Amino acid sequence: DKAGHKHFMAKEITEQPAVIGDALGHYLSADGRDVTLPGDGLDFSGFDRLTMVACGTAYYACLTAKYWFEQLAGMPVEVDIASEFRYREPPVTPRTCAVFVSQSGETADTLAALRYCEGKADTILSVVNVDESSIARESDLALPIHAGAEIGVASTKAFTCQLTVLLLLALKAAKDRGAMSADDMADTLSSLRGLPATINHALELDDDFAKAARRLSEADNALFLGRGLMYPLALEGALKLKEISYIHAEAYASGELKHGPIALIDKRMPVVVMAPRDALFDKTVSNMQEVMARGGKVMLITDHAGAAETDEGVWRLIEMPEVDPVLAPILYAIPAQLLAYHTAVAKGTDVDQPRNLAKSVTVE
Ligand code: M6R
Repeated sequence: DKAGHKHFMAKEITEQPAVIGDALGHYLSADGRDVTLPGDGLDFSGFDRLTMVACGTAYYACLTAKYWFEQLAGMPVEVDIASEFRYREPPVTPRTCAVFVSQSGETADTLAALRYCEGKADTILSVVNVDESSIARESDLALPIHAGAEIGVASTKAFTCQLTVLLLLALKAAKDRGAMSADDMADTLSSLRGLPATINHALELDDDFAKAARRLSEADNALFLGRGLMYPLALEGALKLKEISYIHAEAYASGELKHGPIALIDKRMPVVVMAPRDALFDKTVSNMQEVMARGGKVMLITDHAGAAETDEGVWRLIEMPEVDPVLAPILYAIPAQLLAYHTAVAKGTDVDQPRNLAKSVTVE
């Protein structure tokens, strides 16, 4: 049932404020000031490192989480693609917490990576949408993301719910390891409780994204750039776009631009820049200027403060609602999704069942 939407993907995009709210309801204490996990006893102060393994969009959720665990909890984190991890014979030290993120809980490579860690890692944790899945069953602790059934092949609400649960885990780790005060934690959780409303505001920009997407749909190639927490989001934006619109898209950390990809820039190359006005904004702006100086068409997705500091010459500018910088990746998933969705609609591709793709990749 598409609930009046043309596609499951559109329905699932609009469900995000509700399902994120639901996920928060399951993981916050009654007074909203603390994180509570199902099952007792998970304590991040006993771990030396986190090893996070996943595929596709779930891998980008892990990459985002790496920034959170490092910055908030001071915890060393490595992130790996499951198909690489499982065959590389990586050493897994005993005080490792291994985390597997999977919407379906059935992805063959992720499951094999989990089995590789059995008997090696201290704890096997999974972050899943399907509670009865193989990955959930074989974990010491499975944390459901509460996104509800996701039908569209392109992952949308599962991604933002994965991010929400991973951020809550990073906050719990910060507290367990004495890296964050109870008051700072309560402040971040309070911003997080306001996030569904902010996402609703972003969803109201649907027409702006549809207009921008009509221009993007004329391109053969696109680049996505981001720095810091926006780098994994750039990767997710490029994956969404290629997956459903079949436009060739690549993402780079903004600082990598001059190490190669800048050679691709000409007037036919749209460059989507995801950049709220955060501590790294000025650096991203200078990368953007390098693109514009070479005729590249910049589509800047920023907030009010960022828009105010941007010069002329930007091809398209979309102004997002303001958000606590730590939550920006969850909010900026919306533009990544809406741009891809409307580009696919403009191109007339099969949004919910893109060619060659399966919802759950149970063979390697
Ligand atoms: O079910 P999983 O989360 O393990 O699936 C992982 C990937 O196959 C999945 O995220 C894929 O990249 C999506 N189609 C992306 O939209």
